[in-house]
Amino acid sequence: MRDIPTLAVLISGRGSNLKSLIENSVDYRVTAIISNNPEAPGLKFGREYGIKTVALSRKDYPSLSEYKCAIFEETKKASPDLVALAGFMMILQPEFVKFYWGRLFNIHPALLPKYPGLDTHKRALEHGEKEHGCTVHYVDPGVDTGPIIAQAKVPVFPEDTVEALSQRVLEREHAIYPWVINSVSRGEIRLEGSTVYYSSLVKAEAKEKNFIIFTDSSLKTFPY
Ligand code: GRF
Repeated sequence: MRDIPTLAVLISGRGSNLKSLIENSVDYRVTAIISNNPEAPGLKFGREYGIKTVALSRKDYPSLSEYKCAIFEETKKASPDLVALAGFMMILQPEFVKFYWGRLFNIHPALLPKYPGLDTHKRALEHGEKEHGCTVHYVDPGVDTGPIIAQAKVPVFPEDTVEALSQRVLEREHAIYPWVINSVSRGEIRLEGSTVYYSSLVKAEAKEKNFIIFTDSSLKTFPY
């Protein structure tokens, strides 16, 4: 059997994107789940799918930096080819980002560069946005600033609540994240410098699936 890339997924909570990454893995294999929250409901997917799972608790480490080092060490121990952040609510050390540069991904529930950070749905509603969505991007040392790979849009309706809007966005998250990771795993999406390149297959698929890709997404220059 051909070796396919291995993926570690880092979570802090519910884990619905983790579940979708597992269930839709075709050209990669999820081989490790790492959490900074031992109570994360998403940890159950590790047991359900028989994937090695590690949860580290802040209280077991004297300092935040030692805790972050331990998360880095656990990730390296799993020796994944790729790492996906899926609702991972912790800012990674710059060393972590540097080590996995070009192999480290995040999904964010907004159309970046709009609404980085928290409470994206609430902020989109407050600003009277007519459309909202999600973004998959490479991770750089900033918060939600790395090169954008793909986005999916949803409409915002006048009667929307945060719950209704977040659910609509989440459905698109579950489709776009595995699509990106499968495409990266096949070498159909790659990063050079801070520019994302797409194969013609990916361009065609993005069109068909109504995902937005950027032929010039060098939003930030990696500082190393
Ligand atoms: C998702 O909305 C994701 O975009 C954001 O955090 C949420 C995690 O949800 N980064 P889940 O844990 O994957 O269900």
